[in-house]
Amino acid sequence: MLYLRGLEQLDEAADEADYTRRIPAVAALKRLEFRCPVTFFVGENGSGKSTLLEAIAVAWGFNPEGGSRNFRFSSRDTHSGLYRRLRLVRGSCIAQDGYFLRSESLYNMASYVDELAGGDRGFLRQFGGRSLHGRSHGESLLALAQNRFRRQGLYLLDEPEAALSPVRQLTFLALLHRLASEGSQLIVATHSPILMACPRAEILRFDGAAGITPVAWQETEHVQITRDFLAAPERMMRVLFAEGGEEEA
Ligand SMILES: Nc1ncnc2c1ncn2[C@@H]1O[C@H](COP(=O)(O)OP(=O)(O)OP(=O)(O)O)[C@@H](O)[C@H]1O
Ligand SMILES: [Mg+2]
Repeated sequence: MLYLRGLEQLDEAADEADYTRRIPAVAALKRLEFRCPVTFFVGENGSGKSTLLEAIAVAWGFNPEGGSRNFRFSSRDTHSGLYRRLRLVRGSCIAQDGYFLRSESLYNMASYVDELAGGDRGFLRQFGGRSLHGRSHGESLLALAQNRFRRQGLYLLDEPEAALSPVRQLTFLALLHRLASEGSQLIVATHSPILMACPRAEILRFDGAAGITPVAWQETEHVQITRDFLAAPERMMRVLFAEGGEEEA
């Protein structure tokens, strides 16, 4: 089910201070179509994945710092003005649920959930029955996703793998697949070759001024570099260390 079929960036001048004008893939974006229940955003660090995901989230009505549409906590006003230039193309069905997951703000979100619950165990049931603060990073993320994410929702997730061990990434992959099969739509920014292997998914690569284009799983750098490294780590390290592979101190 597609609740969000795509988006267009309106041809309005952004103000000089808006950093999103200086992100090549975002500046070049005219329109984007979502064709599968699961869409992955992939690309280099700083290529604009979180910026676009956040702008979609705000344009959809989510709290910019994460949560559902009812969440209204804010620690700092850091979101960009890109959402004002986005026109979302909605599907014919209305999403029954949704969540915007930002990895950086899971801690603030956990505090907000505790505040809303005020000791009400019934409320906390949708988050696994107890405070998310009493769990590790990966545990709280999985508790949230397994208990709170439901069918027929729109879920925007930014690097969910950051918290997860390889085994739990497989658990999360199965969860993505189940949610998609149950009529949810997911847009996931990720660096994980495991997650991006999800069936019925399209991978969109953020690639500088070349824009945002579909790429096959085997063609992603994530898969190719991981596969080459695991096949012969010594060989790759010899090349890397000989070249003085660290770009930045
Ligand atoms: N609040 C901000 N002010 C100025 N520049 C910003 C701000 N937030 C992000 N940027 C810049 O915008 C660019 C895109 O950042 P973004 O967070 O969208 O990248 P990303 O593709 O999500 O990267 P990563 O894979 O590291 O998460 C980067 O160059 C970043 O430095
Ligand atoms: Mg990011």
